[in-house]
Amino acid sequence: MSSDAVPPPVRLGDYLPPDWLVDTVHLDVRLHPTASRIVATLAMRPNPAGREGSPIVLDGDELSLKSLTLDGEPLDGTAYVVTPAALTLLAPPQRALTLEIETVVDPSANTKLMGLYRSSSTYCTQCEAEGFRRITFFPDRPDVLAVYTTRIEAERAEAPVLLGNGNPVESGAVEGTSRHYAVWHDPWPKPCYLFALVGGKLDRITEEFVTATGKRVELGIYVELGKTERAGYAMDALKRSMRWDEEVFGCEYDLDVFNIVAVADFNMGAMENKGLNIFNDKYVLASPQTATDADYANIEAIIAHEYFHNWTGNRITCRDWFQLCLKEGLTVFRDQEFSADARSRPVKRISDVRLLKGHQFPEDAGPLAHPVRPSSYREINNFYTATVYEKGAEVVRMLKTLLGEEGFRAGMDLYLDRHDGDAATVEDFLACFANANGVDLAQFALWYAQSGTPQVTVSGSWDEAARSYRLDIAQTLPPTPGQSEKLPMVIPLAVGLVGPDGQDMTLTPDDGSNAARGVLLITEPRQSFVFRDVPHRPVPSLNRGFSAPVKLSSDMSTADLLFLARHDSDPFNRFDAAQTIALGHLVEATAAARAGTAMPAPDALVAALGATLDDGALDPAFVAQALSIPSETDVAREIGEDVDPDAIHGARTRLRRAVSDALAPALHAAYVRHAPSGAYCPDAASAGRRALRNTCLDLLAAGGTPEGIARAQVHFEAADNMTDRFFALSVLAHAAPQAREAALAAFHERFHEDPLVVDKWLALQAQIAEPQALERVRGLTSHPAFAWSNPNRVRALIGSFAGLNPTQFHRVDGAGHQLVAGAVMDIDGRNPQLAARLLAAFKSWRSLEPVRRASAEAALRRVAEKPDLSPDVTDIVSRSLG
Ligand code: ARG
Ligand code: ZN
Repeated sequence: MSSDAVPPPVRLGDYLPPDWLVDTVHLDVRLHPTASRIVATLAMRPNPAGREGSPIVLDGDELSLKSLTLDGEPLDGTAYVVTPAALTLLAPPQRALTLEIETVVDPSANTKLMGLYRSSSTYCTQCEAEGFRRITFFPDRPDVLAVYTTRIEAERAEAPVLLGNGNPVESGAVEGTSRHYAVWHDPWPKPCYLFALVGGKLDRITEEFVTATGKRVELGIYVELGKTERAGYAMDALKRSMRWDEEVFGCEYDLDVFNIVAVADFNMGAMENKGLNIFNDKYVLASPQTATDADYANIEAIIAHEYFHNWTGNRITCRDWFQLCLKEGLTVFRDQEFSADARSRPVKRISDVRLLKGHQFPEDAGPLAHPVRPSSYREINNFYTATVYEKGAEVVRMLKTLLGEEGFRAGMDLYLDRHDGDAATVEDFLACFANANGVDLAQFALWYAQSGTPQVTVSGSWDEAARSYRLDIAQTLPPTPGQSEKLPMVIPLAVGLVGPDGQDMTLTPDDGSNAARGVLLITEPRQSFVFRDVPHRPVPSLNRGFSAPVKLSSDMSTADLLFLARHDSDPFNRFDAAQTIALGHLVEATAAARAGTAMPAPDALVAALGATLDDGALDPAFVAQALSIPSETDVAREIGEDVDPDAIHGARTRLRRAVSDALAPALHAAYVRHAPSGAYCPDAASAGRRALRNTCLDLLAAGGTPEGIARAQVHFEAADNMTDRFFALSVLAHAAPQAREAALAAFHERFHEDPLVVDKWLALQAQIAEPQALERVRGLTSHPAFAWSNPNRVRALIGSFAGLNPTQFHRVDGAGHQLVAGAVMDIDGRNPQLAARLLAAFKSWRSLEPVRRASAEAALRRVAEKPDLSPDVTDIVSRSLG
């Protein structure tokens, strides 16, 4: 990495409007496996808001330019310059003009999976963030909006299905040839990152949706031949999403057709191209035999997410890529709310917060920390992160908490109305909520600008004589890369005071503030809140529903936490109280493991879990969450520095065994009570019963008794669906080395022809916390089912090893780090986005104990020194080491 080769970062502060606008785009695409020809006709004009007399600069990437005309006239070679990154017209006439640009690309050689590529044999595209420039020369920035017409032509035998954005206009045979064509027109102006086309041999299912105002929309889901029966759940989720968006946000669909195409090779989850969403097939295809309950839930959420982008993302897009959270954070918030309405709201909240703490908190605490709206980037693809998506959603959720249901809806209505058709900014978004509610959100806006997780410290005191209760609250925000000084944040802290009878007390704030609603508004480094008429010592329930994405510490005793775990009316905090007890125990037990001293007894946790298990009034899905012991990564995050993954693993294994021993009868009873009745159904209630039953199976097996293992074996063999079968397989793989190989082999034998199921098999083996895991992973890279070219396979095997097997990834001999670093270097030449994402698994390396920290650093340095690294990997490795 020589410094002069590194281009300067892009900075938010340098934003300038485009000098030239594009009103219409006509694309004529002739598909060919290795030489697809694209003729782009661009109607352009100078932007009145741009710089006068500017050249026309069009982005390009790995394009071969075949011809170029201006208003029909070929251009003189001195009139333009072509470099690998741009086509520049040096002195164009300063008026409306038409450019016709012919390029040729090789979709079969496109291993980056950006631009036009082939997945299996299907032609497809991915343009977000900067892939359109790999199809034709274009101002590839989200604030250039144009109306697109696309003619797609291909061999009929090779690509009988031809799809584009918008509505179908015409199609037919190309006279005298074996080729055919289709023309699509999208009336809604859009940035080029929302462009898409598909050509291939695909099967489809179709249904009709009638919108709130009675418009008929034809819905289509296209899948590989023979897989239509696995698309039904996605179709159902789509129709429910469309209805929900009308009912909850007043957003109606705006084209005659809505198509979804599932492809096997895809860098991300899915893409919201206008009227033509393209999905990683793992988030479309499901059947009881091949998909788990978690897969069904993910499909529902991602179908909804991409559909919801039609308004929050497409109708209103982003001015520049710094505003990515404007569409992503908001749309994640919307899909979370949809799933909460479709399933159990508390359980959805718990799983969303677990995801946030598991992925975003570590990001915020490490070298890759960045604000929800970054202010500079070197590679935008590296900013599709948990911070932009998940923390971005939390920020929107806080807005709703602050403004209330109606105030939030008023702000959203104003936003959807005022900015329809715009490329907007975070400021535009916040101004709508400020205007609609007559409030000032200037300090709140710091959530978009300051990185790091706020630390909130709370201590409570009850004044018996005055019958009052005081909460003293302090907030700090730790320094993060590029941000040493921080300002205090606006933190809406939902609280309750739980009385000795387990009931919520009435909140009577001393100052008559909005604390009566149960939300404390924290805006200063230190604040105190006093409540009157508190006749008994209450137990405070803090940050209810996880109202703010902060790390909270309090002086609460274990007894108080135990009380909340049993009585809190807020289900999230009821869950969280038990988690806090468990984490506290695991931190202590890890320290004991390292010091070689005796492990503490987990009596409080056992009591809390036992009470939850015995409470027949609770939703089984909730109980399953409450029974889950914090992960090794959760414990590492809680410890924060000098982390020894082996000690954590040891402590956690012993805790699980102790819980198993102490609660065996209750676990067994719950296991029996939740036995399946009737055929598999993916709905939330049945999934919740399975989740609880499987959690019991797992904890029972964690005791290591022959009965526990035998039960898992029976469960595995008797399963009639993938959820139960795969769960039992995981239990056997982790807890029963003697039964593991046979079970893995049986599973493989049954499903080896199904790549998405093989991914589960690969991922499971990569997570086994034993020294042989490394050799196993290495061996599996030569397995016929594995392919370095497929992102799902790579993420299943290498991604799971790096992300979900802390003891083996962080092996003390450094071999785990070297394995992942080696994979990153191998993949980088082919697919930089995938390589960069894998490398981000090192994000918490500085918190490791010294020996492992040195090994991680050595692996990162080895990557950094490799010549010809992609900008993607260069960016991650230099920030990681920075
Ligand atoms: N906008 C897509 C989503 O729904 C993500 C696309 C990201 N693609 C990429 N190459 N960075 O979240
Ligand atoms: Zn999105």
